[in-house]
Amino acid sequence: MAQTALRITLNTLQQMTRDGEKIAAVTCYDASFAALLEAAGVEVLLVGDSLGMVVQGQETTLPVSMDQMEYHTRCVARGSRRAFIVADMPFGSYQESPQQALRNAARLMAAGAHMVKLEGGAAMAETVAFLTARGIPVFGHVGLTPQSVHQLGGYRVQGKTDEAARRMVEDALLLQQSGAAMMLLEAIPVPLARQITHTLTIPTVGIGAGADCSGQVLVLYDMLGIYPGKTPRFARNFLSGTDSVQAALEAYVKAVKDGRFPGPEHAFA
Ligand code: KIV
Repeated sequence: MAQTALRITLNTLQQMTRDGEKIAAVTCYDASFAALLEAAGVEVLLVGDSLGMVVQGQETTLPVSMDQMEYHTRCVARGSRRAFIVADMPFGSYQESPQQALRNAARLMAAGAHMVKLEGGAAMAETVAFLTARGIPVFGHVGLTPQSVHQLGGYRVQGKTDEAARRMVEDALLLQQSGAAMMLLEAIPVPLARQITHTLTIPTVGIGAGADCSGQVLVLYDMLGIYPGKTPRFARNFLSGTDSVQAALEAYVKAVKDGRFPGPEHAFA
């Protein structure tokens, strides 16, 4: 897509999906990277609660607070002119009630987000309907949902049995029917991601979900190979083989657009 000064909107992302153009998304936590990422052609900046791990050095995303998400969303928004900004709702900020979710989602939207992302399937349907009916676009997130890491028994691939896969398709459909306008698919087998992508009419964005999703997202620090913790199998270091951060970001966008990333070595069968 030609780069223009115009802000990317949900409509842009929906049209790209209809046209078969892949969406390039990356997590972003500050103003400088927001500017670099969108100069490289990234369409979606996700202010992910992964900042708890890669910026704060926590073991999980669970300790991340609303104040912190609001702060990083403001930083990203200040550095951005063109990208569509999605902010994660942190653990404990939306599970209590739809009203609690609305109060906290409104804080992120006021900080500069264009959409909020929350984790979970059928249990979140009422909350998604409540937010979208009040003008807040919602990005669903199914598969490996890191805020549930202790319930899942670790960071494991999800949807491996027929029953788990069937439930995930139903969850994704219910979230879409409730108003979710995009869907993140994390760490699930390639055939299941393909099935969900073909079943839904909204764009899907994958991480560890194979190349058939409408777009891809990576954690910035994994993509640049600067996270000292364990790198997930689905990540690729785009800085290796290039001579600058900007070249690495551009290589990622090109690989996503060309369908060369993720390859089979980054996916689960
Ligand atoms: O917080 C995050 O980084 C995420 C990833 C799944 C992209 O939600």
